[in-house]
Order: sequence, then structure tokens, then C-alpha cells
Amino acid sequence: MKKAGFLLMSMIFLASCGSGGAESAASEETSPRPAPKAAPAAEESVEPITLELSASDQMKFDKDRFLVKEGQEVTLNLTHAGEMEKAVMGHNFVLLAKGTDLADFAGRAASAKDSDYIPEGDEVLAHTGLIGGGESTSVTFTAPARGQYDFICSFPGHYALMKGKLIVQ
Ligand code: CO
Repeated sequence: MKKAGFLLMSMIFLASCGSGGAESAASEETSPRPAPKAAPAAEESVEPITLELSASDQMKFDKDRFLVKEGQEVTLNLTHAGEMEKAVMGHNFVLLAKGTDLADFAGRAASAKDSDYIPEGDEVLAHTGLIGGGESTSVTFTAPARGQYDFICSFPGHYALMKGKLIVQ
């Protein structure tokens, strides 16, 4: 509560400094350096959200879209409800940056076996580990800027069926 009050006061102070002060403050906020996890992400506080995603031996996710808010702390729990081993029917959740070519990415992912099919590059915004039947895993990340983002399972051959959208509002 105290922190929020201080932030509000700071914003009022900045606003009263004129456009120059406000602009320089804004440009600092939008610098590419990732913000510490504990920092408040937006002007209005957003409760963290937990998303449940299940995958099966039928090479499918049980959901193909999720709605979250910009700056929201998102925990995604992935469960493999099947019985097949990771090496045969591995599943993960890989959230991709806007504009990622899925076929191109999946192709590179398929040859990144040593890193559990997470290829090098900056397309991956967040991902879980790779799991087999009966296992579960989880990842927590901050929802990116508003827009629609693809998520896939990057296990070889899976992305065509195992994909969906994270919609950030
Ligand atoms: Co899979």
C-alpha cells in the first residue's frame, strides 16, 4: 500500500514537471533492460494468474487459447496426462515472440535435442521443461505487451497439432 502511494505521488510529481520530465521518465521505463521480477509492471496492479494446460498421448493440448493482461505474472502449469515416455511423446510449452515463423522455428527446435528442443535465438519468451507421461512442470513469466502470441510444443513434429494463442489484453 505504501509503495503504491509513493508511486502515485511520484507520477503526480512527474506530471507536474512538464512534458520534458514526463518524457524522460517514460523513456527510462521502456528501456530494453528487463525489469526485476518484483517491480510493479503497470500503473494498475494486476493479480497473478495461474493457467492449467494438459497434454496427452494423442499429441494434443486441451486448450488452444489463454487470456491474460499485459504485465500480469503468469504461472503456467503443464501436465502430461498420458503414459508415453518423454523420448517418444515429449511435451513442453514454448511461448514465442510475435512474428516468429512457426515452421522455421520448429525446424530448428527439432535439431536442438540437447537443449530439450529449445533452439538458440531470441524468439522464446518463456518455456517449460520437457516432460513425459505422468509428469508435470511449470513456468512463471511476465505477460508481454498487448497482442497475440503463439505457443507450441517444440518436440519434433508436434507443433502442427500442439499450438495455441496467448492473448494479452
Ligand atoms: Co509435444
